[in-house]
Amino acid sequence: MSTTEIHPNVNRVIFTETQIKEKVAELAQQITRDYKDSKNLVLIGILKGSFVFMSDLVRGIHLPNTNVSLEFMSISSYGAETSSSGIIRIIMDLRTSIEGKDVLIIEDIIDSGLTLKHLIELLQSRKPKSLESAILLRKKEGLKTEVPVKYIGFDIPMVFIIGYGLDFAENYRELPYLGELKEECYKK
Ligand code: XMP
Ligand code: MG
Repeated sequence: MSTTEIHPNVNRVIFTETQIKEKVAELAQQITRDYKDSKNLVLIGILKGSFVFMSDLVRGIHLPNTNVSLEFMSISSYGAETSSSGIIRIIMDLRTSIEGKDVLIIEDIIDSGLTLKHLIELLQSRKPKSLESAILLRKKEGLKTEVPVKYIGFDIPMVFIIGYGLDFAENYRELPYLGELKEECYKK
């Protein structure tokens, strides 16, 4: 990628398309290995941030003996802010039962971990056979709660990330790389 293609509001590219592709392929291989004996695997993408990650990840998963289905949930936590409000709202819920099924949550990023923790508690109450999560990015220094994550893409520093599905105030999701948003774009 030439520097001229980088969005002017991106301070630096944190992970290139190639780096992301390799990591997502690795995660997909692990998932393929771990769920080879599963009867029913439900992948739950958390909208909107996970949509690019999810679409790349599922195409790397090969489970010919498993019923693999995709579901989506929409959860709001941030609005246009860049730090956790602690308020989590379900905008769109699942349309099917996950009882007795292996469930894998697909999420773009965890910061405090509060959103994921809340989601795990909610889904656990619906009695899945198993419940794990695959997270592309984790801000380790941001964690405020213990939250178990089986599949992690990258640990990242405490900067605001955009691209590859991640937004700031609904923009930049289309960028093919993961970039650091320039501070002047969100700190007034
Ligand atoms: P918590 O703090 O609950 O936050 O783990 C998770 C949610 O916060 C959003 N988030 C970000 N979104 N770039 C984004 O585009 C970031 O750097 C970032 N940090 C947190 C995200 O929606 C996630 O679901
Ligand atoms: Mg967002």
